[in-house]
Amino acid sequence: MSDLGKHFDDEAEGFDNAINKNIPRYDEMIEVLVNAIPNDKKDLRVLDLGCGTGNITLKLLERFPKARVTCLDLSKNMLELAKKKLSDYDSIEYVLGDFTIIDIIDNYDAVISSLALHHIASDEAKLEMYRHIYDALNDGGVFYNADVTLASTEYHEKMNQSIFDEFMENNGYSPEEIENHRLKRKANDLPITLTKHLRFLEEVGFKNVDVIWKYYATAVYGAIK
Ligand SMILES: C[S@@+](CC[C@H](N)C(=O)[O-])C[C@H]1O[C@@H](n2cnc3c(N)ncnc32)[C@H](O)[C@@H]1O
Repeated sequence: MSDLGKHFDDEAEGFDNAINKNIPRYDEMIEVLVNAIPNDKKDLRVLDLGCGTGNITLKLLERFPKARVTCLDLSKNMLELAKKKLSDYDSIEYVLGDFTIIDIIDNYDAVISSLALHHIASDEAKLEMYRHIYDALNDGGVFYNADVTLASTEYHEKMNQSIFDEFMENNGYSPEEIENHRLKRKANDLPITLTKHLRFLEEVGFKNVDVIWKYYATAVYGAIK
């Protein structure tokens, strides 16, 4: 198994408890992500990339109860927890795999993702992922991503980091735990600037590229095919 797969298998059990204490405005962010999908089609076919414990798909199904969803993740433990959380729904297909290499064979009305794509290794691989997503969408289909981004200056990057650190401190984390978390992020996260994401989306052919929401380092952005 990849190092990233192992990292997320280890994180899975404590994920839901930790995420609201690590990521400021997580609930608001994923609500915006799901609201960004136009509601003119009721029986949407949706792909959730890096679904984790199923939080995004749960919100999606609350808004679109008739949607059929593919939940894709490389962590077996995350997928197991997603299955439990979403056990009331029978319209979900679970796929264990790496979204950077797996063949996406279906066509979707919406591809969504939260806090997962910033793990993709390089700019080239991120651009390739966007091509992959574009190809997997029906015409008029949408892609929206909620994710951590890199600031465009050192000053703003430090500002964003200190907001995250302060948030964790207010949630009871010790300075050692905050430092540990920072080191883990450094080892596993490869965010790029939001403007670069938007350029990449235009480059692969997306239209109506836009930022829907932003709070310091986190943003919801996307586009329409
Ligand atoms: C921080 S969690 C976010 C989970 C969920 N989307 C949320 O916002 O609650 C990131 C998830 O992306 C998954 N992930 C990261 N890289 C992946 C890849 N290359 N292929 C599939 N899943 C991946 C991880 O296993 C993990 O479950």
